[in-house]
Amino acid sequence: MSIASSIPHTFTRERRQPWLRSVPAPRTTALAQTSPSPAAPAPTAPTEAPAHQVPAVVAAPRVPTCHGTFVEYANFDHGASTPALVSVKAAVDRATETYSSVHRGQGWASQVSSHYYEAARDEVARFVGAREGDEVIFTRNTTDSFNLLARALPRRTQVIVFATEHHATLLPWDARRTTRLPVPLTHKDAEALLTDALRRSTSSSTLVVLSGASNVTGEYWPIERLAAIARRRGARVALDAAQLAGHRRIDLDALGVDYAAFSGHKIYAPYGAGVLVGRADWLDAAAPYLAGGGATASVGPLSTTWQTGPARHEGGSPNVLGAVALAAACAAIREHRGAVEAHESRVTSRLVDGLRAIEGVETFSIFGDDADRAPVVAFTLEGLDSSLVSAALSAEHGIGVRDGKFCAHLLVDTLLADEEPDVTTAVRVSAGLATTDEHVERLLTAVAQLATHGPGTAYDRVEGRGWVPAGDQRETLVDLPW
Ligand code: ALA
Repeated sequence: MSIASSIPHTFTRERRQPWLRSVPAPRTTALAQTSPSPAAPAPTAPTEAPAHQVPAVVAAPRVPTCHGTFVEYANFDHGASTPALVSVKAAVDRATETYSSVHRGQGWASQVSSHYYEAARDEVARFVGAREGDEVIFTRNTTDSFNLLARALPRRTQVIVFATEHHATLLPWDARRTTRLPVPLTHKDAEALLTDALRRSTSSSTLVVLSGASNVTGEYWPIERLAAIARRRGARVALDAAQLAGHRRIDLDALGVDYAAFSGHKIYAPYGAGVLVGRADWLDAAAPYLAGGGATASVGPLSTTWQTGPARHEGGSPNVLGAVALAAACAAIREHRGAVEAHESRVTSRLVDGLRAIEGVETFSIFGDDADRAPVVAFTLEGLDSSLVSAALSAEHGIGVRDGKFCAHLLVDTLLADEEPDVTTAVRVSAGLATTDEHVERLLTAVAQLATHGPGTAYDRVEGRGWVPAGDQRETLVDLPW
């Protein structure tokens, strides 16, 4: 069988390539015997919490403060990137032991790596409720996924997207054929804006791009209702699930969505893989996203025949370890769904209530203060520059947050439109599985202290670094990891 023909084209719920049946399951002794050295440690099965507990993340580091103390890192930057799950790191370690080329070699390790890679596709498909025939294409991240989809749109496709989106979702589309809808005020408003835009669209092919959850405010969008409106007008829907996948269940069929994209590094699998899942026809008809080895069926002196299926857009050696990580994260989140949602609901309530109770704090929302949201809150602190707030939280309290416009400039400009002219940015806290009760209380205490007394030490504004505590020596403590 040729390598090309061993590459599955589309996701099928039960199907496996026949040759894969001859590859033993990953945890057989046969695989253990392929360890490079007898002295190498035996592969350890991922240790995982029971399903009623949240899956464990890799232990938080202890970080230095500008006061000369060390504290456990309180990671409130999950919206930008999450730490790895323990089970994800363990799965990557296991897959590293047999790591070899994917779909390119007859060696045993190559077959195992290829098997892992295709099994990862199936796991991701299950995670999003992919339909029979949907493609699962591994990419680098959400930005990459939407750039791929943008290149695969049939000519003259009209794209409709809300200005609310972060740049990965807002920018990949041909500006000449993109309608940007204003930031809506309510769910009903969003529905009306979309309905109106679809009514005015004259294109025979339309793609509506929606976010599952805002990366700035954490609010969930009414995807099912908006997708139903799009479908009634014959439009397709692409879902940016970057801020949704780690928090809530995704079911493409139930949501009525044609494509979904998300990043491993936002769902506890920071190993360089993301994914685009969805309908095969446009993807199979498009020019390969990455022309190169693996994407070809045959190459002659004057012409090239390209694969169909995921391989068409996955030119070059695939990131098998990234795909394994992504699949392991999907499997863990699926298994612990109830515990993840319960943990996040508790953390979200405490964060939102606690921040709103601090005098001088203003929190922001698109759909109103009571909107259902992921554990993400954007806020400003009266009289203090957002970048100074985030610098002080980090330097004095070991708390990591993001400040700025969060790669969602249009939304943040709209949310801050009524603020004083010098308030152009906000602070964002985004929690997740690494968040403990102690982190939340530390954050709330620190913000309250900043609101009442300002920073606890003097800060200098340093070109290229922002606010830095005067006389800060902490960078001398950093050792390179290699
Ligand atoms: N979308 C990423 C964030 O929200 C970059 O931080």
